[in-house]
Parts: sequence; C-alpha cells; structure tokens
Amino acid sequence: MDLSAIKSSLIPPIIAHRGASAHAPENTLAAFIKAKHLGLKWVEFDVMLSSEGEAVVIHDDDLERTTDGQGQVASYPYSYLKTLDAGRWFDSAFVEQRIPLLRDVLHLLHNLHLAGNLEIKPLPGHEHATVERVFETLKKNSAYLPSILLITSFSPIVLRMVRKISSSATLGVLYDEWYPDWQALCIEVQAVSVNLNQRVLTKARVKEIKENGYLLLAYTVNDIDRAQELLDWGVDAIFSDCPNPILVGL
Ligand code: G3P
Ligand code: MG
Repeated sequence: MDLSAIKSSLIPPIIAHRGASAHAPENTLAAFIKAKHLGLKWVEFDVMLSSEGEAVVIHDDDLERTTDGQGQVASYPYSYLKTLDAGRWFDSAFVEQRIPLLRDVLHLLHNLHLAGNLEIKPLPGHEHATVERVFETLKKNSAYLPSILLITSFSPIVLRMVRKISSSATLGVLYDEWYPDWQALCIEVQAVSVNLNQRVLTKARVKEIKENGYLLLAYTVNDIDRAQELLDWGVDAIFSDCPNPILVGL
C-alpha cells in the first residue's frame, strides 16, 4: 500500500488508541464502535495469544487491570477468556464486554469501514507462534479485512518474521525511545511508518524522519496543545485515548 493512500485515510489525523479508550473499555468491540461514532477513521489494537494459540485482542499480559480474571492471558484457553467481563472495570454500562478474538475485530472494522493498526504484542518467546496465528487469521478472513491494515510491533523478531511471511504487508516499526539508528530496522523490514512515543519527539527528530520519507505516528497524546504541536511539526497522526476530532479542533 502506498504512503499517499494511507495519508489520505488519516483525516482526521487521529488514531483511536485501543479504540476510543477514554470513552469505552479499551480493546473491546464497544471501544471500536465508539471511535466510529466519534468520526474517526482509524483504530489501534493489541494482539496476543491465548494458551491454545488463539489470537485475542488485549493489551496487558495479565488479566487483572481490564477484566475480572486473574493471571496471564497466555495461561488460559479462549473458551475461558471469553467468559470474563472486560467492561465492568471501566463502567457498569459496559458489563459483558468481552475480550474479543482478532477475527471479530477484523470483521467489525471491515463492516464499519475503519482502518486498523494491528499491534502484535507477544509474550517473550511467543513471537513466532503469534505472527503465524495472526497471518492464519488474516488469510482465513481475507474477505472481511479492513481496507487498510498497518501491522506494527515493538519486537524486531516479529517485524522480521512478518516481512518473511508477507512481502506485501504494510509494516510500521514501534519505538518507545529515540534510537539514532532508528532507520536501520525500517529499511530491513521495509516499513512505511515509524510509530514513536510522543515523549521523545522533538521538531528536529520529526524533520529527520519525515525527510527520510516515512509516515510518522506518535503515541499517546491526550493533550490538545501537544497534539497540535506535533501535527504542526509534521507528525502525520497521533494515537489518542480520547480521540474527539471536534475537541482537538482538527
Ligand atoms: O501503537 C501505539 C501504542 O499502542 C504502543 O504502546 O503499550 O499502548 O501498546 P501500547
Ligand atoms: Mg498498542
């Protein structure tokens, strides 16, 4: 997918981080639907494996923060994970939201005409199995995918494996820190985007990335002034938990 097609899909230049996660429980179907209602075009979500290797959408390795379960996501089969409540912790209005399957999120985004940023977030040691399962899921559901799907990861192992499996995948490199040699991995895996923690972004760093021809996406920005500053510097889009384009004046 070429950069200009992605850029034109990023209007408004905001990606709902884990869905509209300030308005609905993160990484649930309700959070993605809320993003659509807010007028967003893009959502980000995190994917890892259950114990039997099902691709599920959840951020933390552990269940405690966002469900009524306990222990590691990777310790349980999906038949158990799907019984957990993933909404009550956020608000009683969201009781019975569930940890979704990757398949269900892909179908929802397809139906809502939302673009997706699928972040592969494996437990250490589960990189290969996670990428394999994600690609099996993409293949099986090829008729129900979002029209734009950006695959990202903090893990170079994951990014290299994605590129090995798919020459056509649209890939982004995630960095939590500033690395002066940031471009090496981008070149190696043929990334189209650099997805950086907004904390480490300066005007000069934005210029450097943009001059090298990458899309630059910054996470996580919930402050209107910082959002505007980053976009003024040339950042292509921001990930936000409260992604209301009207509130941020975009
Ligand atoms: O992809 C941007 C952001 O989601 C990366 O950090 O921890 O929120 O998944 P995290
Ligand atoms: Mg994420």
